Amino acid sequence: MANAQRRDRLKAAQDRHLAELFELLRIPSVSTHAASADAMQTCAQWVCDKMTAAGLTSQIEATEGWPVVYGERLVDPSLPTVLIYGHYDVQPPDPLNLWTTPPFEPTIRDGNIYARGATDDKGQMYCYIKALEDLQNEPEILDRLNIKVLIEGEEEIGSANLRPYLEANRERLACDIILISDSSMQAPGEPALMIGLRGLSYLEVKVQGPAYDLHSGLYGGAVPNPIHGLSQMIASLHDEQGRVNIPGFYDDVLDLTEEEREVQRRLSPRLEDFRAEVGITQESGEDGYSIVERTTSRPTLDCNGIWGGYIEEGAKTVLPSIAEAKISCRLVPNQDPEKIAKLVGDHLLNIAPAGYKVSYTLHHGGRPYLANPQSKAIQAVQRALTEVWDHEAVLIRGGGSIPIVADFKQVLGADSVLMGLGLNDDRLHSPDEKFGLINYFNGIRACAAALTRLAEADFR
Ligand code: BES
Ligand code: MN
Ligand code: MN
Repeated sequence: MANAQRRDRLKAAQDRHLAELFELLRIPSVSTHAASADAMQTCAQWVCDKMTAAGLTSQIEATEGWPVVYGERLVDPSLPTVLIYGHYDVQPPDPLNLWTTPPFEPTIRDGNIYARGATDDKGQMYCYIKALEDLQNEPEILDRLNIKVLIEGEEEIGSANLRPYLEANRERLACDIILISDSSMQAPGEPALMIGLRGLSYLEVKVQGPAYDLHSGLYGGAVPNPIHGLSQMIASLHDEQGRVNIPGFYDDVLDLTEEEREVQRRLSPRLEDFRAEVGITQESGEDGYSIVERTTSRPTLDCNGIWGGYIEEGAKTVLPSIAEAKISCRLVPNQDPEKIAKLVGDHLLNIAPAGYKVSYTLHHGGRPYLANPQSKAIQAVQRALTEVWDHEAVLIRGGGSIPIVADFKQVLGADSVLMGLGLNDDRLHSPDEKFGLINYFNGIRACAAALTRLAEADFR
């Protein structure tokens, strides 16, 4: 009964929920650009105001970087406490020319909301705020939990200032479970909880040949070309079986149990569907592992960018002095990001072909995360998702990274429940990022249902 009423209330509010999300999506809160300062502040303030309207005592809190928004509704210290986490920052919208409609002018087409941040993470994060707003009509649910909400502005740049913030606010952020919607469902209409996230090591490598750019006619043939050297090095980083060809890379990898492999096999997409989704004719990767395993449970190494020499219009006969590349690894339990970054970097120095000077620098990384699937909180939220989508929610591992999740465990001692509300093909970080209208509206219902189930379950 209460359920039907809630459903009607949420349905009646859909136009307003959409208009508000559009306002949020219009704010260009690109965390990696220093020029975003005004937008970051505006966005934090906007989120803070909506949290206040949802019944939370909220404030903006300064960090060494972009501000954090924190709000809480505390009922009784003896009740279970749920911390909700999300991020209001977004990735840069580039390349702009590939967007069908501008990234910060949200538009609806074919049942989807198109905008940068639509799914990652503004749309998903805002579902909680709307759910909390609505649950004010059901104090019998809300009064059984303490709610804390933490929305940060630096997730897309590595959350460097959030860890010190956690350490400085351990007591205030103390909680029994963390709820996060910043990932994906299994498929359209098929809900999922993520019990794993991969970690990340990220480095930049520089290869130098001659001391300065040369005329390729006068010197070509006798001078090492750093683009060739770098390409050779990168090509050697995988072997014939698709494994990362760096001694020690797999040393700390926790193998999947046969049981888990079986579950993953059942969830594996059909190869044709996978190929069609991303527009390829042949998948790559480690022999002996399914697509799901390769993309969620095995570590990887990818070159994310490579440059050097002349790349502007027309032809220039240059023999470049420098070539560079960005290389990152997705990590799984129990790999350590710093150890792997150093391992990969030192390997690159080792394999430098004669005639080149190689050096590298490190970017931010993050540790992998794996939850206990038997956790009562996960099972309670799993029931909530199953009920909202009328489809069994599965437990999956995710291939992406949310580095703060491992820090939550270390600093606050709390596990996270990763309730993805978007889809893998929502084009997060790409042009034409989207969030299905059904995902948004059911997402709000799912957040309310998850909190309800947690309020009813003794999950601690
Ligand atoms: N929301 C994503 C991570 C994600 C997406 C996890 C889908 C699972 C499924 C997050 O915003 C993100 O993009 N993380 C970055 C890492 C960060 C350190 C820049 C990533 O995974 O590349
Ligand atoms: Mn995200
Ligand atoms: Mn992201």
